[in-house]
Amino acid sequence: MGRLLNIVTPLHKKTKRDYVGRMTDNKIECMQVAKKYGQEYWDGDRRYGYGGYKYDGRWEAVARKLIETYRLPDDAKILDVGCGKGFLLYEFKKLLPNCSITGFDISEYGLKNAKEDIKEHLFPYKAQDVYPFGNNTFDLVISITTLHNLHLFELKTAVKEIERVGKNKYIVVEGYRNEDELFNLECWALTCESFFKPQEWIWLFNEFSYTGDYEFIYFE
Ligand SMILES: C[S@@+](CC[C@H](N)C(=O)[O-])C[C@H]1O[C@@H](n2cnc3c(N)ncnc32)[C@H](O)[C@@H]1O
Repeated sequence: MGRLLNIVTPLHKKTKRDYVGRMTDNKIECMQVAKKYGQEYWDGDRRYGYGGYKYDGRWEAVARKLIETYRLPDDAKILDVGCGKGFLLYEFKKLLPNCSITGFDISEYGLKNAKEDIKEHLFPYKAQDVYPFGNNTFDLVISITTLHNLHLFELKTAVKEIERVGKNKYIVVEGYRNEDELFNLECWALTCESFFKPQEWIWLFNEFSYTGDYEFIYFE
């Protein structure tokens, strides 16, 4: 079984969130819009998602930590499942110019609005489908805050595929440890389908024979 890491959490904690404000702002309609993962989700009003996901360099520290944690070589092969606009892959490419990056996402808008320099390495695909790669193709497979957007019955293939195509793997999902965090998560989440405690995620990872690392982000 993998390790519990603490790499994305410091970034996640930097954002201030008005939980009750979101819950009382026509949230049902906002969830319906967000789940299309279109322009509104990425670059529309904050009530639909990111509220304008422009790149500000915040993923550099995460890429550095992952390179160090997995001792990635200069020519590492990296896959990002649910890469969104590909900001983390962009940072990997800057830090390891000879690495080979691949990313996919369900959001055509996200991919279209990725950084020009890395767009050619991204393609539309669903995390819950069988991946078009051989066993152990990648030195590292990452999936950051994507898999909780899948239903339980979709998680099985997604987790097993990440396990199959990567030598190392790192999954980050939303979770909750107590009633306060469940309340906050339910207020904040627009696209989440799988609301689990860390013990439940770990049970599920074991159930699907996942041996990689993981991290949970909480809404404290
Ligand atoms: C919170 S965003 C994270 C994006 C990116 N990993 C990042 O950290 O910037 C969640 C991502 O999951 C993607 N997503 C949601 N459901 C998906 C699915 N079934 N297959 C692939 N990607 C999915 C969304 O389009 C979005 O890019």
